[in-house]
Amino acid sequence: DLETQYPDLTTPDSPTQRVAGKPLEEFKKMPHMPPMLSLNDSFSENDVSAWLERLENYLGRKISYNERTFFCELKIDGLAIELVYEDGVLVRGGTRGDGSVGEDVTQNLRTVEAIPLRLSDGYPRKLIVRGEVFLSKKEFDRINKEQEKKGEKIYANPRNVAAGSVRQLDPRVIAGRKLDSFQYDIVSSEPASYAEQFKTHEEEHEALKKLGFKVNPDNSHARDLGAVLDFHKKINEHREKLAYEIDGIVVILNDNKTYEDAGVIGKAPRAATAYKFSPREATTTVEDISIGVGRTGVLTPVAVLKAVNVGGVTITHATLHNMDEINRLGVKIGDTVIVSRAGDVIPQVNKILKNLRTGKEKTFHMPAKCPVDGSRI
Ligand code: IVH
Repeated sequence: DLETQYPDLTTPDSPTQRVAGKPLEEFKKMPHMPPMLSLNDSFSENDVSAWLERLENYLGRKISYNERTFFCELKIDGLAIELVYEDGVLVRGGTRGDGSVGEDVTQNLRTVEAIPLRLSDGYPRKLIVRGEVFLSKKEFDRINKEQEKKGEKIYANPRNVAAGSVRQLDPRVIAGRKLDSFQYDIVSSEPASYAEQFKTHEEEHEALKKLGFKVNPDNSHARDLGAVLDFHKKINEHREKLAYEIDGIVVILNDNKTYEDAGVIGKAPRAATAYKFSPREATTTVEDISIGVGRTGVLTPVAVLKAVNVGGVTITHATLHNMDEINRLGVKIGDTVIVSRAGDVIPQVNKILKNLRTGKEKTFHMPAKCPVDGSRI
């Protein structure tokens, strides 16, 4: 009310500026200069080591190693955005699109609390940064429960909800969804000397933080390949405890000058790689179905699996919950199945590969006697 009465009091960072506006007819286009690139993937230690070798071959020299040779970042499973600030005020924000042109989703991004509407002191006249918008696992569960209650569609993963929300023409949808964001790159500035003062990628992160952006506190520098592999392992083990989904780490050559020298191959920078985690889904066989007896006497069928690694964790058992679930899946002893870790933690059987059956599979029946004391069920 005050701002309506005294429009002069409205500042760009007023809480009212985060409130969703009117639905749009369509998004304006937002060109990216330079284009928003992607990353080439690595899936193993060998891949990362081969990436380094190719990089040194291209540069025609060995990389000079020091405490901060690489900067390792968590690869957030969200969607890439670009933000433009003029005189410290957010004026435009857009999606990646095809890399050259995205969509102007400023109105939606304004509702994201982690995106500053106004920068802290020390900003250049114009600043372009890039980062990731994402949804926490908790917020994802909350939204899906709400969808279920309303009898509406259930989303497959947080990434889809984040992408769907950011690209909603009606900003009231995104306002009800608490999106989060990390920025990880300073793209350009006016005067150019602001962005050019940073010698390493790590320094850009520090500057972003100082300007009021949210940067990932788990990112860290690494001396050599060994340290990069250690970081990958540590983050993979720590992954389930994170509030949001990641699908690997990003390894970047920290020295900005060498990074530029290395240039681009296809649509990805030569001096960076995405070292992905192994998938959290795997194929294995059901060796048996055993019975777990709960404290209250409830019998739960459990699939005994041929040990398989899913996202860095060895799985040997998965609950089948009850007879209904066994019938729904149609699972038999001896079946080949796809397993995953539900909510990233609890192993579950997702699907039976019926075309791999040999005819030797056995139908499971609930026992007539308690497996613990032999009494009648
Ligand atoms: S650096 C040249 N850092 O991964 C691109 N990307 O496969 C430089 N991503 O489109 C990207 N977390 O959306 C970088 N910490 C991170 C990231 C990250 C997620 C995404 C980004 C990009 C995709 C590349």
